[in-house]
Amino acid sequence: MAIRVSICFFLFALTIFASSSFTRISAEEAESKEFVLTLDHTNFSDIVSKQDFIVVEFYAPWCGHCKKLAPEYEKAASVLSSHDPPITLAKVDANEEVNKELATEFEVKGFPTIKILRNGGKHAQEYKGPRDADGIVAYLKKQSGPASAEIKSVEDATSLIDDKKIFIVGVFPKFSGEEFENFTALAEKLRSEYEFGHTSDAKLLPRGESSVTGPIVRLFKPFDELFVDSQDFHVDALEKFVEESSLPVVTVFNSDPNNHPFVVKFFNSPNAKAMLFLNFSNEVADPFQSKYREVAEQFKGEGISFLIGDLDASQGAFQYFGLSEDQVPLIIIQKDNGQKYLKPNLEPDHIAPWVKAYKDGEVPAYKKSEPIPESNNEPVKVVVADTLQDIVFNSGKNVLIEFYAPWCGHCKKLAPILDEVAVSYENDAAVVIAKLDATANDIPSDTFDVKGYPTLYFKSANGDLLQYDGDRTKEGIIEYIEKNRDKTTSQDKTTSEDKTRSQDASKDEL
Ligand SMILES: *[C@@H]1O[C@H](CO)[C@@H](O)[C@H](O)[C@H]1NC(C)=O
Ligand SMILES: *[C@@H]1O[C@H](CO)[C@@H](O)[C@H](O)[C@H]1NC(C)=O
Ligand SMILES: *[C@@H]1O[C@H](CO)[C@@H](O)[C@H](O)[C@H]1NC(C)=O
Repeated sequence: MAIRVSICFFLFALTIFASSSFTRISAEEAESKEFVLTLDHTNFSDIVSKQDFIVVEFYAPWCGHCKKLAPEYEKAASVLSSHDPPITLAKVDANEEVNKELATEFEVKGFPTIKILRNGGKHAQEYKGPRDADGIVAYLKKQSGPASAEIKSVEDATSLIDDKKIFIVGVFPKFSGEEFENFTALAEKLRSEYEFGHTSDAKLLPRGESSVTGPIVRLFKPFDELFVDSQDFHVDALEKFVEESSLPVVTVFNSDPNNHPFVVKFFNSPNAKAMLFLNFSNEVADPFQSKYREVAEQFKGEGISFLIGDLDASQGAFQYFGLSEDQVPLIIIQKDNGQKYLKPNLEPDHIAPWVKAYKDGEVPAYKKSEPIPESNNEPVKVVVADTLQDIVFNSGKNVLIEFYAPWCGHCKKLAPILDEVAVSYENDAAVVIAKLDATANDIPSDTFDVKGYPTLYFKSANGDLLQYDGDRTKEGIIEYIEKNRDKTTSQDKTTSEDKTRSQDASKDEL
């Protein structure tokens, strides 16, 4: 889960870059004819079953990204309606109760979700293209054509093979046979992520040995060795070849949207993720880049992926990891289980020994924590990651702790209630009411299962840990604490506590 969130932060930054270039397109021309078809559960199958190729957006009326997409999508629909053959764009309000079955059928998990449906809806594929009108048009034109385009001339090669992207070419003496079929099957399978072409003349291609006659697969890439060949035509081996060769040794994260797909791949990998952040405009950036690359080459295939990020583009990541700019240059490694390792104020020569020490298990895990508050005199005690052990686990007290987020409405509603509970226990030294800002502090995910805010836990003085599942009322919380607290250590307190609470209750009545 932690890893998902970090992707969001990176992508958030990327979305801003991507959208800034095309925000100004049409709001005026919306009125007249709508090119996007509106479908619902009554007519979805009828329409879709008649189409070889149709694009369906599942949206919700309240979703901001959907609203932003709508004019672009409509514009693309209008352009594509005169494509030969016409390409149909449709939408389904997946928020409508009656359409929810459709949404489930197409595994809609977020909004907007766009699907490309082929063969009368028999085959569904995720839309992974851009969200601006021109981008949508270009992407869908490609998707509606053959999965692999034939390259017959140098011009074909130049127009198809984009220097900024992965492109995969099969070279074949003839366009038939098992190798060609396996290549085509792979192109069909991976067409939403990669572009494919085939040719019988390797001399047309921009790089690589031009005398080969094939069968051979050549993958062009905008980084590292720039192209790589393979001759293994087993479908699985081909796929593995494509996936592995299309990952850079070091993924670059900056404001260039061309790097976006590689950043996404980086985060989708199950590997531990090493991220070096520095200011790319600074003159010291070069020695860092070359040293980092050496380390990445050295640890290739050892379960670590490497990314280098420009400070300017990495605000989201900094916030997420609780990092500050004065720690730059820094390297942070995040394992798939969420554990993090940090080396701030790094020098180029530190990289290799530090990564090796990490590999050898010699680097202690890093946790994000707010500073320990200097005074903590409010009724509800402030806990930060660095005081969680002391206050919750080592204090020998009964502790109710709330994990909250500053922006969360339910947390705001709960705050005065917790305050009252804390006040009513003020004279009971064996009970602590506490709160922790879970957006600013790491919490051990093997101990606390925090999926939403607020999440409350109760730890009794004798060490039992329970997730609070009672009412979020003063009475409910107090009842729960009384039921679950460790009675043996605080018998003598009961009277004063009862008194406090009955006084409090009478106050309420006034
Ligand atoms: C499908 O049905 C809905 C609801 O009746 C209607 O609004 C929509 O226009 C129909 N779509 C098509 C393409 O007929
Ligand atoms: C094509 O792929 C299939 C399935 O992986 C495999 O059995 C077959 O050997 C492949 N053909 C060639 C020529 O590699
Ligand atoms: C990066 O370095 C350049 C040149 O030294 C400087 O102008 C810029 O403000 C720095 N960026 C950040 C985010 O510190």
